[in-house]
Amino acid sequence: MTHNGQCLLFLTLAILTCNVLRCHCKSLDYRDKPSGKISQEISKYTDIAQKIIQLAVYGNAQNRSYEKLAAFTDTVGHRVTGSRNLDLAIKYMYNAMRLDGLENVHLEPVKIPRWIRGEESAVMVLPRNHSMSILGLGSSVGTPKEGIEAEVLVVESFEELKRRANEAKGKIVVFNQPFVSYAETVVYRTAGASEAAKVGAVASLIRSVTPFSINSPHTGWQWYQPGVPQIPTASITVEDAQMMARMARRCTRIVVRLTMGAENLADVDSFNTVAEITGTEHPEQVVLLSGHLDSWDVGQGAMDDGGGVAISWEALSLIKDLGLRPRRTLRTVLWSAEEAGGLGAAQYYQQHKANISNFDLVMESDLGTFAPVGLQFTGSDKARAVMWEVVKLLTPINVTSLEEHGEGTDINMWMEAGVPGASLHTADSRYFWFHHSQGDTMTVQDPTEMNLCSAVWAVVAYVVADLDEMLPR
Ligand SMILES: *[C@@H]1O[C@H](CO)[C@@H](O)[C@H](O)[C@H]1NC(C)=O
Ligand SMILES: *[C@@H]1O[C@H](CO)[C@@H](O)[C@H](O)[C@H]1NC(C)=O
Ligand SMILES: *[C@@H]1O[C@H](CO)[C@@H](O)[C@H](O)[C@H]1NC(C)=O
Ligand SMILES: *[C@@H]1O[C@H](CO)[C@@H](O)[C@H](O)[C@H]1NC(C)=O
Ligand SMILES: [Zn+2]
Repeated sequence: MTHNGQCLLFLTLAILTCNVLRCHCKSLDYRDKPSGKISQEISKYTDIAQKIIQLAVYGNAQNRSYEKLAAFTDTVGHRVTGSRNLDLAIKYMYNAMRLDGLENVHLEPVKIPRWIRGEESAVMVLPRNHSMSILGLGSSVGTPKEGIEAEVLVVESFEELKRRANEAKGKIVVFNQPFVSYAETVVYRTAGASEAAKVGAVASLIRSVTPFSINSPHTGWQWYQPGVPQIPTASITVEDAQMMARMARRCTRIVVRLTMGAENLADVDSFNTVAEITGTEHPEQVVLLSGHLDSWDVGQGAMDDGGGVAISWEALSLIKDLGLRPRRTLRTVLWSAEEAGGLGAAQYYQQHKANISNFDLVMESDLGTFAPVGLQFTGSDKARAVMWEVVKLLTPINVTSLEEHGEGTDINMWMEAGVPGASLHTADSRYFWFHHSQGDTMTVQDPTEMNLCSAVWAVVAYVVADLDEMLPR
C-alpha cells in the first residue's frame, strides 16, 4: 500500500495518535459474580503477584525500567518515523533484549514514511518584529526557499473559518482553538491545513494542542485531504496564538513570514521489534505487551512512548528473573511509526491476523508511565469478570480499577476485531504538557512510578497468559 493509501486508511486512527479518546472512565460495576471458580483460580496467583511486585518495587529490579529507559533515550535520543535514529533505536532494543536473555528476539519488516523537517522559522513582521517558536507538522510540505509572507487571519474554530471564508484567500490562517480535550481539539492539528486550503489560505499555523504552555510548540502528524491543495502547516505556541488573537481583535494588521524546509520522501524499510517468553503448554497462544519505539523529533521521546517501551520490556525481564514461564507465550512488540498513524502496528495486524484466534490479550501503554491507577479494558462481560479478578492482585500497590475502553492506536485493530485489549491508566494529568514537545525528556519520568507500572504490566500479562483458558471473547 502506498503511503497516501495508508494515510487515508488511518485518518481516523490518526486522530487517536498516542493519546486517544480520553473519556476517563467510570469503573463499571460488572463485578456481577464472576463464577466462584474464576475467583478461586485467580486468587491462587496472589503469591506470584506478590513476588513480581516485590521484585519490581522493592527488590533487585527497583528502578530498572527507569534506568533502562534513561540509558536508551540518553544514548539514542529522539527517533522520528523514517529517521536514522529510529534505525539506531531498533538496533539498540534488539541487542539489549537479546543481552537480557529474552527469547525469540527478532525484527519484523514494515514500510514507513519518511518526512524531513528541515530548517524552519516563522517571523512576525507586522505589527512588530517577533520571532516565533514553531514546529512544522508531520507530513507538511515546505514553503518556497524565500518563505511565504502573508497577512494573518485568526480564527477560533472551523465554524468561524467557514463564516469568514471570504477573508481567507491568500492569507495564513492561524487557528487559536481553545483546548477542550486532546481527542476533541486535535482535529485542528490533523485537518487544519486542508480546511484552511479549502478557503484559499496559503499556509496554516495551529495553536499547540496542550492545556499548559511555557511557550513551547507541540508537533504531531497531520493529514492532507485528497483533492485539496497541500499548504505548509506548523504548530505555534499557545502564547503566540493568543497574542495574535488579541491583536486581531484590536483590528491590528498582522503579517507573518513562514519558512519551512519540510519534505516528504519515499517510504523506507523499518521493523517492529519483538521479544518473547515462550509459553509451556500453548506456545502459539499469545499475550502481547507493547509500546511504540518511534517518537517525535524533539525532546527525548522518554514519555511518548519511551515509558511504554521500557515497561513492556521490563515486564518480561521480571518474569524471566523470577524463573516463571506461563502456559502461553508473552510477546513484547515495540511498534514502528505509531506517530505517523500506527503504520507499524497496521502492518503487523495484516501479517498476523490469520492467527487472530491465538491472540489472548493485546496490551499497550502509550499514555504515560506515571503512577498507575487502573487498567482500561475492552472485552466481553465474561472477559471483564476475569480481568476484575486479575486486577484484585494489584491491590497491594493500590491499583484497583478496571475501566472501560482499552486505548492505543497500535492495538485498536485487534480490539475492533474482537480481541480483548488493555491499556495502562496512570495519573496522567500532566501528559499533554510534555506531549510532542521539547519537554518530553527523562526529567518527566519518575523511577518509583515506573516500578509500579512495570509491576502492573508483568502481573497482568503473566496471570492472563497462565490461566486455564484464554479470555472469553
Ligand atoms: C530508586 O529511585 C528512588 C527515587 O529516586 C531512590 O530513592 C532509590 O534509592 C532508588 N533505588 C535504587 C536501588 O537505586
Ligand atoms: C524588522 O526587521 C527588519 C530586518 O531586520 C527591518 O528591516 C524592519 O524595519 C523591522 N521592522 C520593524 C517593524 O521593526
Ligand atoms: C500462525 O501460527 C502458527 C502456529 O503457531 C505459526 O506456525 C505461523 O507462523 C503463524 N502465522 C503467522 C502469520 O503469524
Ligand atoms: C497504597 O496506599 C496506602 C494508603 O494510602 C499507602 O500507605 C501506600 O504507600 C500505597 N502503596 C503504594 C505502593 O503506593
Ligand atoms: Zn505515543
